[in-house]
Amino acid sequence: QREAIGSDFDALIAADQRIEPRDAMPDTYRETLIRQIAQHAHSEIIGMQPEGNWITRAPSLRRKAILIAKVQDEAGHGLYLYSAAETLGVDRQELLDRLHDGKQKYSSIFNYPTLTWADCGAIGWLVDGAAIMNQVPLCRCSYGPYARAMIRVCKEESFHQRQGFEILWTLMRGTEAQQAMAQDAADRWWWPALAMFGPPDTGEAAKGGHTEQSMAWGIKRFSNDDLRQKFVDMMVPQAEKLGIVLPDPHLRWNEERGHYDFGEIDWDEFWQVLRGDGPCNAERIEHRRRAHDEGAWVREAANAYAAKQTIRENE
Ligand code: ACO
Repeated sequence: QREAIGSDFDALIAADQRIEPRDAMPDTYRETLIRQIAQHAHSEIIGMQPEGNWITRAPSLRRKAILIAKVQDEAGHGLYLYSAAETLGVDRQELLDRLHDGKQKYSSIFNYPTLTWADCGAIGWLVDGAAIMNQVPLCRCSYGPYARAMIRVCKEESFHQRQGFEILWTLMRGTEAQQAMAQDAADRWWWPALAMFGPPDTGEAAKGGHTEQSMAWGIKRFSNDDLRQKFVDMMVPQAEKLGIVLPDPHLRWNEERGHYDFGEIDWDEFWQVLRGDGPCNAERIEHRRRAHDEGAWVREAANAYAAKQTIRENE
């Protein structure tokens, strides 16, 4: 029977068809998806914190309304993604427990602080820009529920990126102090945004990585380095339009390759953040645990309501 499962699954993957929850799939495919989708969901809800920090201090009513909507969108993305993970037979509570116990990761990028209002612009422009670059190909992921969730997520992310660009655009046309604030935010977020794409495809760091297998299964469509390069190529002209100087002396157009060359990413810092030693790791998890505990009554009320509805429907 195992062979039959294998051949159906392999045929669907070879034909670039979608795998659906009811289809038989190898355990390793299921585990890889649970790992990636859970990490993605955790990133969305932890990602609410850095910008949530500025909701009370947004510089105008318009900016505040946009920021609230954006942070709420991120909560929504987390919910679609937890639902997609649940179709693989894992329980949402179990995933949250793994996040709270530090057993499952979330994106490195959300362990950096938002020191000024310009950081909300830099997050929208750079972090959401990187997220789109990484997530548009996931709309073609071989696992149906994940791919479909990504379509709406990507539409919302592109709005997020434009609002970030517009914050920086406004600051760069403001006073000298505002321009300096925008430049400083870009200086601090550029390198962590490049690291977001994950470890390089070659060398020591690539050993034990998942890219090769995930590409063979049609989960990932591009390697980490390929997406990082596409991101750099997209962002350099945008930085020029903004009048922001990207903090990399090695950044230059390479005519032969048809791409921008760029400098070395500090991978020691990346692994340090993944180990839990980034600037805000402890604060992010502590806040998340507290929010979860304080929300217990909402979950209890929702369950009690659902139970009452079920009794009524069966009467
Ligand atoms: N932050 C934290 N961990 C990371 C990051 C990162 N930026 N990049 C890679 N890793 C981890 C991987 O999870 C893996 O760890 P594990 O084996 O313990 O699970 C390890 O580093 C090796 O990396 P890869 O082999 O490249 O792992 P993978 O094939 O899963 O690729 C990637 C990583 C590109 C992030 C992929 O999982 C992905 O596309 N995920 C969906 C998108 C996502 O999660 N985005 C989150 C940020 S965007 C946002 O929320 C706005």
